[in-house]
Amino acid sequence: MPSCRPLRLANSIYNRFVQATTWLTVGAIAAGALVLAGLAYWELVVAEGAHLGQRVVVLLYDWTAQRYESIKKFDIEYEDRALGQPLALALRRITPCQVLDVAAGTGRLARSLLRQPAFAGDVVNLDLSKAMLLHTRHHQSQHARRVHRVQSPASRLPFVDNTFHAVSFLEALEFLPDRKAAVREAVRVLRPGGWLLLSNRVGPDVPWLSGMTFSRPEFLAVLSELGLCEIDVQPWELDYDLAWARKPL
Ligand SMILES: C[S@@+](CC[C@H](N)C(=O)[O-])C[C@H]1O[C@@H](n2cnc3c(N)ncnc32)[C@H](O)[C@@H]1O
Repeated sequence: MPSCRPLRLANSIYNRFVQATTWLTVGAIAAGALVLAGLAYWELVVAEGAHLGQRVVVLLYDWTAQRYESIKKFDIEYEDRALGQPLALALRRITPCQVLDVAAGTGRLARSLLRQPAFAGDVVNLDLSKAMLLHTRHHQSQHARRVHRVQSPASRLPFVDNTFHAVSFLEALEFLPDRKAAVREAVRVLRPGGWLLLSNRVGPDVPWLSGMTFSRPEFLAVLSELGLCEIDVQPWELDYDLAWARKPL
């Protein structure tokens, strides 16, 4: 009778091979899933969809609109000290005055400005996300007649040149595919002598946001190339620089 040993050996080698390839496949699938999850986290959470286009950014903001305020946890005193009070002071001699908040989100700028007794004017909240704009109404009902909502892209503002006494553009420049053109558009609708408030992202996430932010020297260069004067750039919040600049008379 022939020995079964070679057959058993072959069987055992085959079984080990099947086991090894199964584990390798499972490992490769798990590694792939981890890489995909990492990419999705980076693109959808860190970069907030910016590399995937305007539609994805707006869709993400439509989805998060209801939670935006609780995520941001705006501190009223800080908001007033950094935004509302200095802007109301800068605009105190102008009545009535018109302010535009580009990519206004849930209307933080309008809220802070309208809390200032020195401010006598209206604010236009412009955003591309309808859900974010709906929340401006929710948060600003006591000033309903002084707050206006416009759904529009920041890259093409539906206003004639030299309309507003101040234009703000906070925490949003990084979502625009052509940042320089977006700043030019904000300056276009600003009146001579008017103030621009513009943020540029600078925090620790910047290396992950390739092509979405200006370096500090670039930011200053863009503001001066547009002919703005009285430029002052200061660190703001954790992740931004905030520029104040004036359109010459
Ligand atoms: C981080 S939030 C900032 C909102 C507000 N400025 C603030 O500081 O709380 C970014 C906002 O930009 C808006 N946005 C993004 N891309 C836009 C675009 N191309 N045009 C207009 N708004 C845009 C989003 O819908 C969102 O409301």
